[in-house]
Amino acid sequence: MAKKLFVKTYGCQMNVYDSARMADVLAPHGYEPGDSAESADLVILNTCHIRERATEKVYSELGRLRALKDEAARQGRRMLIGVAGCVAQAEGEEIARRAPVVDLVFGPQTYHRLPEMLVRALDRYTQGGTGSGGARVVDTDFPAEAKFDHLPEESRGQGAAAFLSVQEGCDKFCTFCVVPYTRGAEFSRPAAAVLAEARRLVAAGAVEITLLGQNVNAYHGESADGGIWGLGRLIRALAEIEGLARLRYTTSHPRDVDDELVAAHRDVPALMPYLHLPVQSGSDRVLAAMNRKHTAETYRRIVDRLREARPDLALSSDFIVGFPGETDLDFADTLRLVREVGYAQAYSFKYSARPGTPAADMGEAVPEAVKAERLAALQQLIGAQQTAFNRSAAGSVQPVLFERQGSRAGQLVGRGPWMQSVHADAPDRLLGRIVPVRILDGHANSLSGAVVTADGPDSNTHRVAVHSAIERAIA
Ligand code: 5AD
Ligand code: SF4
Repeated sequence: MAKKLFVKTYGCQMNVYDSARMADVLAPHGYEPGDSAESADLVILNTCHIRERATEKVYSELGRLRALKDEAARQGRRMLIGVAGCVAQAEGEEIARRAPVVDLVFGPQTYHRLPEMLVRALDRYTQGGTGSGGARVVDTDFPAEAKFDHLPEESRGQGAAAFLSVQEGCDKFCTFCVVPYTRGAEFSRPAAAVLAEARRLVAAGAVEITLLGQNVNAYHGESADGGIWGLGRLIRALAEIEGLARLRYTTSHPRDVDDELVAAHRDVPALMPYLHLPVQSGSDRVLAAMNRKHTAETYRRIVDRLREARPDLALSSDFIVGFPGETDLDFADTLRLVREVGYAQAYSFKYSARPGTPAADMGEAVPEAVKAERLAALQQLIGAQQTAFNRSAAGSVQPVLFERQGSRAGQLVGRGPWMQSVHADAPDRLLGRIVPVRILDGHANSLSGAVVTADGPDSNTHRVAVHSAIERAIA
């Protein structure tokens, strides 16, 4: 009988991708995705270390899983528990020590070895009877062999909007960030491997692919002729795949926006007009302390070049408020930058120290109350820009890729070119297809619309409105 696998994913899209690939690795070994931890033979927590108290949350989830594992044992079932991802990488052996319920600990670079780890974990289980014999399986190496060369080619397919990991790790060492330590040095997959995986995803039904990497536009993959391709070149090659209508990429660093990438935004219609380009702060002093390697002015200039190339480009960003030493004046610079650039969407966080990162030892902590105040002010501004951007879509017709059923019967939810969620009444047969939708209304977090039918009054209006919302939001 097939064994059940349940993977609970935290954090970024890289983890969503890794979780799907773990399922691919385990499929030939008789594991099928199940829909709950209760009935699973193997539960994996694919963890994220970016957020505050991430580690504590993993331990409390492990407490819950211990009860399930005990219950399974009472019923004579064996349940294995694995911890993967960045918390596993950072904590390693410590997890197995603090949470004996855990059978396997492995990092983002070793999950291709899952089948061997499982054999060892099961041996240990058998020897110990209750799962207490022998050492736990801990594999948090950065192995010499490339993970991607050892992952199965077959993939379950990810539906109409798929993710494809092209780059991993980061060499930027922003002083607040754990990623260079948990994900390791920067690595780009060869272009041929990326193209082959993209073709397989399209054959399995994908019409949109999001290229993933911690620092995706640092991509510098080997090409078939022995040269090196940057992300712009890779995007051009991917855009030639028949049936692939949309491309996106995330997350990028301003420093790595080169001319070739800007030109791809100008020349490749499949490259969607929406870009997540984190700036973190609008103050040069803070940007320097963060080791971001760019100023507010260079960021503005990059945005100008991108918008010149693709005038309807909408932007999103990440911001950190209350970085050590951030003054009211520094924060005012951030608000000014947000007003000037204008965002369709953005994430903002209060700075919190991550042990082992340089910023954790900087002192000059900003009081919690000040951080909270700044966060509220920033979120209010970003929220107003986002709502204005969404409202400005009303009346336009957008191509929407329907991805799932909505909460109301007869309703589908999809995404337009600018990443907005669009809700519309539509039959299920439109799932996985790109369909023109007239936007009726823009809300704080989504759009509602009506499918444009071939014989309807909109039949000649397959025109996509260029958003001028951002200018309106600033005005
Ligand atoms: N404190 C607050 N926010 C952080 N981020 C990363 N590290 C920290 C930290 N120590 C935010 C950054 C990054 C996003 C993924 O998480 O804004 O871009
Ligand atoms: Fe972290 Fe900076 Fe690298 Fe992004 S660029 S992953 S914030 S170190």
